Amino acid sequence: MNLQTQEIPKIYNEAEDFMPINGTDYVEFYVSNAKQAAHFYKSAFGFKSHAYSGLQTGNKQNESYVVVQDKIKLVFTSPLRSNSIVGKHIDKHGDGVKVVALWVDDATKSYETAMERGAKSYMEPTTTEDKHGKVVQSGIYTYGETVHVFVERKDYRGDFLPGYQAWETTYNPGPVGLKFVDHMVGNVELGGMNKWVEFYEKVMGFTQIMSFDDKDISTEYTALMSKVMSSGNGRIKFPINEPAAGKKKSQVEEYLEFYEGEGVQHIAVATDNIIKTVTELRDRGVEFLRVPDTYYDAVLDRVGTIDEEILALKELGILVDRDDEGYLLQIFTKPMNPRPTMFFEIIQRKGATSFGKGNFKALFEAIEREQELRGTL
Ligand code: FE2
Repeated sequence: MNLQTQEIPKIYNEAEDFMPINGTDYVEFYVSNAKQAAHFYKSAFGFKSHAYSGLQTGNKQNESYVVVQDKIKLVFTSPLRSNSIVGKHIDKHGDGVKVVALWVDDATKSYETAMERGAKSYMEPTTTEDKHGKVVQSGIYTYGETVHVFVERKDYRGDFLPGYQAWETTYNPGPVGLKFVDHMVGNVELGGMNKWVEFYEKVMGFTQIMSFDDKDISTEYTALMSKVMSSGNGRIKFPINEPAAGKKKSQVEEYLEFYEGEGVQHIAVATDNIIKTVTELRDRGVEFLRVPDTYYDAVLDRVGTIDEEILALKELGILVDRDDEGYLLQIFTKPMNPRPTMFFEIIQRKGATSFGKGNFKALFEAIEREQELRGTL
């Protein structure tokens, strides 16, 4: 492993942040069956029913279900008719993330600033209202057909957004301890990484906080490069991956081929008790990637003392890594869809602010074993 990874110190000046973002607002997936997807994320991932939009609310185009767990809100949207924008997106990409919504104080200003700085418009500032108040939303394109929607909700007291009604059901399995979105990773075309790094710097005021090259992230067969972009205040982190030349097809190339373009590769969600969370997820049928048991023979030599019982980590397949500030525990699900595209990461940070570089090799070899089974390596 190459230890020359560049770690760029970040100095934050709030007054100079032209695009302040309070956090992730919601993540919207375009899927072929929103009702069943929402049920799956409830039963398998511990989300609970939150809001609904569809024929019953006067929405004749799409049906959407919103589920929530602590600060994480996921929206699943399906079309009600053929030849729709949502349906075409699903036909091309399969189920996937369309909107990474960002919570801001002023969605008009965020939009105008982004447009002045070279963004491509997705939605002009639009105000919607109901009895709970008003919300302003605007949007810009990022990589592929993925978009960022800016959500201004300071004058809104409803549960989600105007146009939605509360979704109440008797079936709400308990939460599994997922707290918030830690980071979301985009896969972009070969040669596209720096273009999107520049986009996040110039249009969104993000800074690059880390970079990994193909010497950091390579196995015998495959390689990728990655740069991690952070919003000024650090509340949003978007690593951007691009494939690098390897002997066989990399996981990023596999994604790009099956997603038919650039898009969100994984959503990392934070827990403060990964052993409990992963035990619960596994019991509910969530499938995780596994590294060989030999990973655990040397892990404590690499990361030093940790609070967790190593046997418990081994039993569940949880990975550990350390940086200058502490350590982290992480694990990755298998792809969530028939196409080998989007997956989830479960992460618990115990001081560490990095992304598990020490696990890349073992992890990518685990992914390659899966690719081999799929015949896509
Ligand atoms: Fe990650």
